[in-house]
Amino acid sequence: MTQGTVTAGITRLIGNTPLLRVRMFERDFPHVEVYAKAEWFNPGGSVKDRAALSMIEDGERRGALTPEKTIIDSTSGNTGIAYALVGAAKGYGVKLVMPGNVSAERKALVIAYGAEIVYSDPLEGSDGAVLMVRQLVAAEPDRYFYPDQYSNPANVRAHYEGTAVEILEQTTRRVTHFVAGLGTTGTFVGTAGRLKHENASIHTIAVQPEDSFHGLEGLKHLPTAIVPKIWDPGVADEVWGCPTEPAYDLARAVARTEGLLVGHSSGAALWAVRRLAETIREGVVVTVFPDSGDRYISTGLYGAKSK
Ligand SMILES: Cc1ncc(COP(=O)(O)O)c(C=O)c1O
Repeated sequence: MTQGTVTAGITRLIGNTPLLRVRMFERDFPHVEVYAKAEWFNPGGSVKDRAALSMIEDGERRGALTPEKTIIDSTSGNTGIAYALVGAAKGYGVKLVMPGNVSAERKALVIAYGAEIVYSDPLEGSDGAVLMVRQLVAAEPDRYFYPDQYSNPANVRAHYEGTAVEILEQTTRRVTHFVAGLGTTGTFVGTAGRLKHENASIHTIAVQPEDSFHGLEGLKHLPTAIVPKIWDPGVADEVWGCPTEPAYDLARAVARTEGLLVGHSSGAALWAVRRLAETIREGVVVTVFPDSGDRYISTGLYGAKSK
C-alpha cells in the first residue's frame, strides 16, 4: 500500500509485513545475514492474522461460514485475537476456548473486539482447549463455524501463498535458510513448503520447546502434544528443541540491542538462528518474529534482572 491511499478495510492490511535485518549475531558471524518477518505489523499484532483471515475467507467461499454462524476455535491467544478482529470486521460472532492461564493482555484484547471467552483447565494446556471446543461443536454443530486451525489447510495456505512469497521477494530469492517455531505448524509448513518448492536447496529448521513443561507461549512440544493434522515433517530438514531460559534471554537482548520488542517465541527463533549460524558460518537466514513483547509485559518477561 502506498502512503496516502485509503484502505478498503482493516483485513486488507494483513500480510506484507516488513523483513527486518537483525544484527545481534553479526560480530560473531559476519558472513551470516539474518532477517526476520516482523509479524506484529499485522493489524491484530501477530502472524495469526494471516491464518485467521485465510480460514475465514475459505469458509465463506465454501459456504461453511454464513452470517448467522458463530466462529469458534481453541487458541492460546494470538489466533483468538485474530479471529476476534476479523470476525468484528466482517460482522461474525466469535467464541474462543483458551486455557485459563493465558496472559491478561490477550484476554483483554479479545474481549475488546467483542468476542466471548470460555476457559479450559490451565493444567491441560492447549490440548485441553482443543478437546473442549470439540465438545461444544458436537453439542450444537449448526450453530458454529469451526475453522480448526490445527487441521485446516487454509492455515498452511496463508503462508504458502503469502509469507513465503514475500520472503522470496524481499530477499530477491537470496534466502538460504529458513527457521520458524511450531505452534499449529501452519507458519512453518506453509512457508518452508513453498520455499523448498521454489528452491529445493533452501535448508529449513523447525523449532519446538525442548520439553513439555515450557514457558514458550504459542509453541508446541510435538512429542507430547496432539500432533496437528497439518504438520508435515517432510518440509523440515531439522527439528530442534529450544530451552525456555535462553529464549527469554534472547527476547530481552534483541529489545535492548536492536529496539525490537518481541515475544517469547521470537526468542526461541533467535536461539535457533544463533545455533545455526555457529554451524553454517555463511548464509542468508530468514526467521519469523510471530508477535510483539508488549503482549507479555504482565508475564514478567522484561522485568527480570538485566543480562
Ligand atoms: C506467539 C506465537 N508464536 C508462534 C506461533 C506458531 O505459529 P503456528 O501456529 O503457525 O505454528 C504462534 C501460534 O499461535 C504464536 O502465538
